[in-house]
Amino acid sequence: MTLTAEPLSEFLGAEIKGLDLSRPIDPADRAALLEQFWRHKVIAIRGQDVDPDGFIRFAEAFGAIEPFFISAYNLPSHPQIYVLSNVRKDGKPIGRDGAGTHWHSDSTFTEKPSSVTLLHGVTVPSRGGDTLFADTVDAYERLDPATKALIDGRRAVHRYQRKEFVFSGDRAVDAAERAEIERLKATRLAEEAAAAPSPTARRSNREPDRLHPLVRTHPVTGRKALYLNDEMTVGIEGMPEAEAVPLLRRLCEVATAPDRVLRFKWRQGDIVAWDNAATVHTATFTPPDEPRVMHRLTIEGTVPF
Ligand code: SIN
Repeated sequence: MTLTAEPLSEFLGAEIKGLDLSRPIDPADRAALLEQFWRHKVIAIRGQDVDPDGFIRFAEAFGAIEPFFISAYNLPSHPQIYVLSNVRKDGKPIGRDGAGTHWHSDSTFTEKPSSVTLLHGVTVPSRGGDTLFADTVDAYERLDPATKALIDGRRAVHRYQRKEFVFSGDRAVDAAERAEIERLKATRLAEEAAAAPSPTARRSNREPDRLHPLVRTHPVTGRKALYLNDEMTVGIEGMPEAEAVPLLRRLCEVATAPDRVLRFKWRQGDIVAWDNAATVHTATFTPPDEPRVMHRLTIEGTVPF
């Protein structure tokens, strides 16, 4: 089968066509897929009617699936799959609601952050719920020489912080949506306070700070990229906070400049994979009356260098 890649935007991402995910990918297609993936950093395969086994099989083309830490929101039949959703059954959430609503690369608060993340749009809202992506290789290259010299060789401090319903990336949120977000956030916080802490919350409370290079070298392509999270990168080793925090904010603003953001609008069944060493992403607001169910898998990564 001949695989093709069509750009999703001028600067980032490609739609891959010509793959049949109802059966295992043959080695030639896998090699072609990975070549396109490392080149485009975000890839989408539209409209896939695959079940969890098919999604897992496809994800394995990118490497070993991480045994996701025990969570209240894993799919019972396939615990590697983490469910993101705003849907509630019998008053209980079927997935994590409001997750990933700030600009980030996945699991940077761990020693070996996920290399690749895949999302499958199982139920896709007709409005909202887009995912935004920005290219951190391009962001590094756009920095002026003085800033590059200031950050090259530095390590940033990554700290796990719960960031549900932040929406730092979606500059399009209006006042009515913001009020709705604050209402949802207050409800979820009250629910959490009333319940025993979930295994996810217990683990996150134990996570120590992690130091990772602020400019990382991509383990496959060798390209240099900014490596930071809008909300979870809280400092720079050996730099006073008063200097580090505004610098981190400035770097994040460069990376996520609105005119360089890929806004991915989900359609039913879409699968998207992204390269966590070369991009940052953020979820956006989904109106509560629009059900959204996403299945998420992550691929093991290595210690960033
Ligand atoms: C994530 O950050 O992994 C979730 C992105 C999304 O739900 O759009």
